[in-house]
Amino acid sequence: MTVPSATASDPVQAALDTWQNEPGALLPVLHAVQDSVGYIPREAIAAIADALRLTRAEVSGVISFYHHFRTTPPGRHTVEVCRAEACQAVGARQLEAHAKTRLGLDYHETGADGQFSLEPVYCLGNCACGPSIRIGGAVYGRVSEARFDELLTGLDTRALELR
Ligand code: FES
Repeated sequence: MTVPSATASDPVQAALDTWQNEPGALLPVLHAVQDSVGYIPREAIAAIADALRLTRAEVSGVISFYHHFRTTPPGRHTVEVCRAEACQAVGARQLEAHAKTRLGLDYHETGADGQFSLEPVYCLGNCACGPSIRIGGAVYGRVSEARFDELLTGLDTRALELR
């Protein structure tokens, strides 16, 4: 497998070129790679470790410590459910249970068909309108179970239209 590209050629090298000589470069590099590629390809770990003079185990340890980082491609749509306090006070726990059932996924999982990934998030800056979710880059507030289903149905429809 080749490492997907961000600068159209090498997103890992682009991240290293930007951050390599900065103190504490590992996290910014990992964020840049994931932002660009969608995940941290396992093949990138050696290159990152070598460039930052770390062991592969150190790089892998940081990746596995932070749930934000993933080493497999995300689904076509990433659904994030806010688990922070304000949203929990207005029903986020029930919504997350519904999301897990509706998608057939737990947090940090991607469906076998590659359509959806489910992730927790801790505040989307939409606290007054909870429960909040984000799908792709779009934040939705006051999401009921019915609204959640509507949003997913819209995505399913759009996905079908793109085929
Ligand atoms: S607590 Fe959910 S958006 Fe802030």
